[in-house]
Amino acid sequence: MRIRSAIANMGTYKPPLEGRNPKEYLLMDFNESPEPPPLSVRKALQQYLVEGHLQVYPHYGKFTEQLGKYVSVPPEQLLLTNGSDQGIDVVLRCLLDPGTNLVMAMPGFTMFKQTVGTIGADFIEVPYPADFEFPFEGIRQAVNPQTRIIVVINPNNPTGTSAPLEQVESLLKEFPDCAVLVDEAYYEFTGQTCLHLLNQYPNLVVLRTFSKAFAIPALRLGYVIAREEFINELLKIRGPYDVNMAALVAARALLQDSQSWQELVSHLMGESKPALEQFLKEHGVRFYPGEANFLLVEPKGGATAAVSYLKEKGILVRPMRPPLENYFRMSLRKMEDMKLFFKVFGDYFSPI
Ligand SMILES: Cc1ncc(COP(=O)(O)O)c(C=O)c1O
Repeated sequence: MRIRSAIANMGTYKPPLEGRNPKEYLLMDFNESPEPPPLSVRKALQQYLVEGHLQVYPHYGKFTEQLGKYVSVPPEQLLLTNGSDQGIDVVLRCLLDPGTNLVMAMPGFTMFKQTVGTIGADFIEVPYPADFEFPFEGIRQAVNPQTRIIVVINPNNPTGTSAPLEQVESLLKEFPDCAVLVDEAYYEFTGQTCLHLLNQYPNLVVLRTFSKAFAIPALRLGYVIAREEFINELLKIRGPYDVNMAALVAARALLQDSQSWQELVSHLMGESKPALEQFLKEHGVRFYPGEANFLLVEPKGGATAAVSYLKEKGILVRPMRPPLENYFRMSLRKMEDMKLFFKVFGDYFSPI
């Protein structure tokens, strides 16, 4: 077989998933929700598994109307995807050819680079400065006549920082022939969105997910929000059954029962996050105050030693690759778990 050279020459994206047993470890390494979705959602899933028609292909019915009300856009401006990873895939496949490029600030979410690689297009990366502010000028200067997509991750994973909405609008205005693809995976934690710009700018494309605040990454559901004409192009790429029915059943119930995920978001952002920041300050540990449900921490004595120590004590955090090798990224959990983290990590500095 002759593998396309673009594929043959690239590596596999393998997040460190091995051994992530939630019964064995406190999981703070994947920006997941610390709680399963509410009981109402799990009951809806149970009922679907027992009484639903698993032998029938998925049919999405009026779900995009329900989702459209949550997002405040008409259903024609929505495309459901198998996780927002598939959103990235269909948008990039629709717009990129070999010889064209995508411009993005790095470090950022790895799937963008991986997907550009599979297409054989060019990935132009613009480094974040030391303060992790969005490198707006660098991005503008990196765009060239072959650029088809400018990616903005708001807030960015792993830095936690956002591009100001005025800068997103400036990019939409200055580069009308490029898509400005805004990944809002962590939208529910910040409440900040650029969606109001969709009426004015047809080159805006937004990605969202049910994997973070909605807590169903295992079921894989994301969505693309864009002008109807663009959604119709994406529909040619996404398979008619790519989103499974269990994800849809859970999402329907989640949108009906929004109180519990909203309360959890308030708890994480209003209590766990300030408590973690306070703890780190008290122990003189540098951290970057990101806007989402995770923080980048720069422990004294290096990240590798701290990550291994925490793992030994039953807590998983995520070590970062260069240029962030001195940091680990940790997700917020409820206060009872945060207190355990404070105890364990506190002992790391002053062993008893
Ligand atoms: C910025 C960003 N975009 C997209 C995703 C992918 O999410 P999904 O589970 O919907 O594929 C993630 C997951 O961590 C992310 O951090």
